[in-house]
Amino acid sequence: MIKSVLASFLLATSAVRASPALTERSLDTASNNDPFAITQSARNPRARAAEIEVKRKGWQYSEYPMGVAYYPTGTLANKTIAKDGESWLPPILEIQGHIDEEGPKALENIKAKGGLNKLEDYVNLYDGQWEHAFPDGPFPGMLTNFTDDRLFSMMRLSASPYRIKRVKPSDNLLFDVKEAKSITGLTLQQLKQQGRLFLEDFTEMKELDPTDKFGAGCQSYFYIHPKSGDFLPLAIRPVVKNRENAALVYTPKDEPTDWMLAKLIMNQNDGWHATWAHITQSHSAAEAPYLAAIRTLSEDHPVMKIIHRGKFLPDRSSGASPR
Ligand SMILES: [Fe+2]
Repeated sequence: MIKSVLASFLLATSAVRASPALTERSLDTASNNDPFAITQSARNPRARAAEIEVKRKGWQYSEYPMGVAYYPTGTLANKTIAKDGESWLPPILEIQGHIDEEGPKALENIKAKGGLNKLEDYVNLYDGQWEHAFPDGPFPGMLTNFTDDRLFSMMRLSASPYRIKRVKPSDNLLFDVKEAKSITGLTLQQLKQQGRLFLEDFTEMKELDPTDKFGAGCQSYFYIHPKSGDFLPLAIRPVVKNRENAALVYTPKDEPTDWMLAKLIMNQNDGWHATWAHITQSHSAAEAPYLAAIRTLSEDHPVMKIIHRGKFLPDRSSGASPR
């Protein structure tokens, strides 16, 4: 199939090259040694159009596994997908092999140390384990600073920073935090007026279909400390559907385990959000225009060079002149 498509493409190319009109037109760019050209400067517009037509046939729209942007299919697309898979799949399979081998060993290690009874025991999940599956281990500090509020707030900035918004002086507050002054030295209103107050609101998650587990969507306030300048969590309010009025506000003034629970729920919200944000904000945002570009632009178009990120250069092996 590919062969016949390419054959007709090459035939079209040679036929077009014989055209005197196109020879004249190619004089316009004869002094240009740059192999890339925008559409208007193409040396051989008809050959270029034929090339695009071949790509349009070979790169079709199909379903998208996550239901957001179309996934490519077609003879040329499938060839590229298979070739890409040759580079990204083997390392994943190799790591999976290490996980299969080292997982049971890690489980035995935890059992030998008495199991998971208190928070600190979770460090044993990684202590001396996962030598090949996870050789560098968790990020430095994760196993020692996991109760530190600064680690929690830095995780917000690392995972989904776009979900955090500075609360403007004119914004309404979503809930009150009575302990604000004793925690920060300023009232909630003062924090807001000084531009020190931030909000991360995941309450839309209370609308998700529930499982047999219990979940909540959190509203969280963060602030920049007036003295230290640290970015810190101030309060977390987990909200459950139909029980909004009963929602409790947790702060660092609560019992450490209660505060930790609130932070865990918030972490879970962010993890769920990050999963889907990754698809919609990065994959779809990049893939939709990428596929459209493949289907509408010549490989000689400078934009393709940018989109391919220097991965490919125009293929001159067929002897085709710059188009
Ligand atoms: Fe991804």
